[in-house]
Amino acid sequence: MALSRHAIDQAAGVATLPQGKAELLVARTLWVQAFEEWSERDYGRPERDAKVGMLPPKLARLMVNLAQTPRGQALLDPFCGSGTVLQEAALLGYGDLWGADASAAGIERSKTNLAWLKDKNPSLTADFNLQVADIKDLAAKLEEQRFGAIVTEPYLGPPLGGHEGEERLRVIQQQLVELYTIATSTLARLLEPTGRLVMVWPAFQGQSKLIELPLTIARTAGLVAERLLPTGVPAVWVRERGSLLYGRPGQRVVREIFVFRRA
Ligand SMILES: C[S@@+](CC[C@H](N)C(=O)[O-])C[C@H]1O[C@@H](n2cnc3c(N)ncnc32)[C@H](O)[C@@H]1O
Repeated sequence: MALSRHAIDQAAGVATLPQGKAELLVARTLWVQAFEEWSERDYGRPERDAKVGMLPPKLARLMVNLAQTPRGQALLDPFCGSGTVLQEAALLGYGDLWGADASAAGIERSKTNLAWLKDKNPSLTADFNLQVADIKDLAAKLEEQRFGAIVTEPYLGPPLGGHEGEERLRVIQQQLVELYTIATSTLARLLEPTGRLVMVWPAFQGQSKLIELPLTIARTAGLVAERLLPTGVPAVWVRERGSLLYGRPGQRVVREIFVFRRA
């Protein structure tokens, strides 16, 4: 016999069922998530662009948390798209929020979504600074501004049909190396000395192995990857280069999540 969500919630902590014929199930509610609110911030916001790709709000929040940056410091998403990272950072209490994107339409989407978020949450006091900027021009545009946290998912490559061979995946990988080289070197310069850069990198599922972007990109930019899980966790969870993989079985492009700090 399974215990329903309702039964667990009603029990406000610990729930037991009377001894039944087959088994007794005991459960304790450890966490109840506001699933309707998560869903509304994903599917219910006014602007979405599935073609460009959006971070799931839960992953955006996880990434903001990984930065472990004090709330008073400035946070930047330089590839902000529809504004998912900025939305979750505002809800977590960050007040000095910056977003940039090469696409003017992306910045308009962010503006609309963040205005909607403020309408829904009148107590939010976050200040949003949004601008259209290609990553290669961003350092010049932001001049002396520095960030305690930079949290971002850049362009992950063209949509894949699922039939691309390894050779085609390697061509896409090579094209992305250029963007990620510019992005990491620019963002390293925009970080406060103790700041953290939390970033998604694309990894492509080849026939026999994962095709990743080379970590030398970050090293050359003066960044080091932090190990995201403590020592002692099962070996299969840990990647040698410190990152975490986020994806579903069978997915061709997997998100590789890094936390970088300045070397
Ligand atoms: C995967 S989307 C980011 C989605 C965003 N995290 C969200 O949840 O909506 C990547 C974004 O990078 C932007 N982009 C692509 N190339 C860029 C560049 N060279 N400089 C700045 N932004 C760029 C695209 O316009 C797009 O909005």
